[in-house]
Amino acid sequence: MSKIRIALVGCGGMGTRHLYGLNELMKTPFCRVELGALCDISRENAERAAGVVEELTGKRPSVYTDLEEMARDQDLQAIDVVTDPSFHHDVVCQAVELGLHVMVEKPFGVSVGTCRMMVDAAEKHDRLISVAENYRRDPSARLARYLIDQGVIGTPYGAALHSVRAGRGIFITPWRHLKERAGPLLDMGVHYTDLIRYQLGEVREVYSDARLIEPERVKPESLNSPYEFYRIRHDAMDPTVPATAEDSSSAIFRMESGASLNWMVQMAGPVSFGRQLIWGDGGAIEGFGNRGGRIRLLHQDGTTVEQEDLIAEHTDFEIEPLANHFFPTKVTVGDDAVDWKIIALEYHELSEAILDGRKLEVDGDEGTRDVAVAHALCESAVAGRAVTLEEMMGMEVYEYQRDIDQALNIEH
Ligand SMILES: NC(=O)c1ccc[n+]([C@@H]2O[C@H](COP(=O)([O-])OP(=O)(O)OC[C@H]3O[C@@H](n4cnc5c(N)ncnc54)[C@H](O)[C@@H]3O)[C@@H](O)[C@H]2O)c1
Repeated sequence: MSKIRIALVGCGGMGTRHLYGLNELMKTPFCRVELGALCDISRENAERAAGVVEELTGKRPSVYTDLEEMARDQDLQAIDVVTDPSFHHDVVCQAVELGLHVMVEKPFGVSVGTCRMMVDAAEKHDRLISVAENYRRDPSARLARYLIDQGVIGTPYGAALHSVRAGRGIFITPWRHLKERAGPLLDMGVHYTDLIRYQLGEVREVYSDARLIEPERVKPESLNSPYEFYRIRHDAMDPTVPATAEDSSSAIFRMESGASLNWMVQMAGPVSFGRQLIWGDGGAIEGFGNRGGRIRLLHQDGTTVEQEDLIAEHTDFEIEPLANHFFPTKVTVGDDAVDWKIIALEYHELSEAILDGRKLEVDGDEGTRDVAVAHALCESAVAGRAVTLEEMMGMEVYEYQRDIDQALNIEH
């Protein structure tokens, strides 16, 4: 069975998790991916990740700090880009020029302009780009989409996505609070814009209020993480970080279907709350689906049907063979390895796309649309009016993102 040889570029928190994901895939008979090497501008991070691979597989991969040198030395077909988002366009454009296919973490780019640079470069060099949007790959998201497609809730006309997390703590990394390096509304928001588009179809326009509530973020007192990388970084973190990116948004999305969605995503302030609902003229679904999450069906009479019962009832609901191998019950709640297994699904899809021509689920265009909708939150707030996805994709509304591109020395 032929395999693709891939290298990881960006060996930080999520990069390390990708290595566990690849290891999950390698344990299955489906695996058509082998790890070539690791690359990070920080040799220390790359060496630590090499130690993780050695622990998992008994073999220590070669380590590089320069992508071009790695591509010269190693016989690679693809790279997996897990750098922080403000470097995605640099690494992806260089990789496709070197003839490599790419899997890249979400958010695809820090602005619509950087996304378009990557899509254009991949087209020019005839290479594939797959954006690692993981939440939609959980069986709970697949089931929600199946129920909607089957008309189980009738025609969807309303939805709410509320994710409000109180506090002033630094959200995983200091870079997540800086506008030009992907603020929380992009970094976290893009998970939700992808899910919304997956479940409800294309967004037509967004009308939003977005603001910065906490201009100074503080280091959380302690971190309980199973990963050494996160613990070391937490210890080294400055006690405070000045924040420049908006951390609070409230919006109305109008979908192409005519449905509307009420959005509230915030990582600041005094209270936490959250709920996700999609409703139609025949019922409602609680949850858009999520890694390790569950959905349920809600009826008007107040009765609910849990995911397990929905799966038992809908015997023709199927997930792809590797997903079925990982999640035979089609329920991931309580599965400690769900994060890694979903990453394994992403690697597997890329290998099938390269080797067999499988269509990529979230390609460069889809990844750009997810970013465009997330940035519509701040663009609408700056413009003081609703902005359309068409305007966002055409970069006709670009006040907010122009600052980002300028800070990164990008000219369009
Ligand atoms: N899908 C998910 O659930 C999920 C979860 C966490 C992070 N992410 C995404 O993964 C990406 C990385 O996030 P993270 O939390 O691991 O960040 P991080 O800061 O922990 O790690 C980034 C790593 O990239 C390296 N790097 C930066 N520029 C580089 C370059 N030009 N070449 C090589 N290496 C470079 C850094 O040295 C660092 O080791 C982001 O896009 C983030 O949004 C996704």
